[in-house]
Amino acid sequence: MKRKAFKFKIDKSISDEIMELLANYDCQNFYSESYPNDDVEVFHLFCDEDKVDEIMKKVGVSFELEWVEDEKWIKKWSESLKIVNVGNDLYVNPNPSKFKDPKDGITVKIVPGMAFGTGEHESTKIAIRFLQKVMKKGANVCDVGCGSGVISAFAAKLGAGRILAIDVDPLAVKQSLETAKLNNVDYEVRKNNLMEGIDESFDIVVANIYYDVIIKLLDQLSRGIVFIVSGIDKSHEKDMEQACIKREMNLIDKVCEGEWCGFIFSW
Ligand SMILES: C[S@@+](CC[C@H](N)C(=O)[O-])C[C@H]1O[C@@H](n2cnc3c(N)ncnc32)[C@H](O)[C@@H]1O
Repeated sequence: MKRKAFKFKIDKSISDEIMELLANYDCQNFYSESYPNDDVEVFHLFCDEDKVDEIMKKVGVSFELEWVEDEKWIKKWSESLKIVNVGNDLYVNPNPSKFKDPKDGITVKIVPGMAFGTGEHESTKIAIRFLQKVMKKGANVCDVGCGSGVISAFAAKLGAGRILAIDVDPLAVKQSLETAKLNNVDYEVRKNNLMEGIDESFDIVVANIYYDVIIKLLDQLSRGIVFIVSGIDKSHEKDMEQACIKREMNLIDKVCEGEWCGFIFSW
């Protein structure tokens, strides 16, 4: 499929800031490329043109329009990925046709596509390790903002019972279903705006999304859960913690890696 993309270059040092800005505009359909010894990162953004105009004005850069063939860049990108060591004997294999799974531990296979979630991002790793830490056999898990489905697949392999994976992006829904099949695990995937209209109780809710989105999710949660939050940039670390504590949630654990923080709360 060919799609209209907006291509722009930025200094790698402001990459996380750009990602947060894109999230604030609900513009999370993008990919970026950078090379190890280069300071430049190139973003390819799939978003409404008027939103892109506003974002680019804020960033102070201009964009070029390009037509992108999905399969072409996905192939190029997936060839550059390596097995990801999430920590605690957990791995993601982003190219199962090229790499064998590590002998020990738990591996989730992914075929990279348009959805976020190859396991490389610090925020995904934090969420997966926290999930392992709190998992009890048969626990019901809701994975909000499932992207590629990598967290749901880990939930299944770590012994969860029912798993509901949610994303607003139809491409994430499609890819999460493919991930389930590839890993021979079972979970439900639903296109939904956060947990809006979901009247079901869960033991664990895990969300690796940006701060402004998570803040909206807080109002949709019910008591009796372990809540794993990740994807919080350092500038919002305290705000996130306060917002949860104000709701009488108990902070169980917190980790920051690079620019990203994750939390476990019980409520
Ligand atoms: C940072 S990615 C995380 C993907 C994956 N869970 C991971 O950890 O690698 C955030 C995901 O949240 C989804 N998302 C953003 N806003 C959302 C919303 N309002 N409701 C549901 N999903 C949302 C995005 O489409 C994206 O797939």
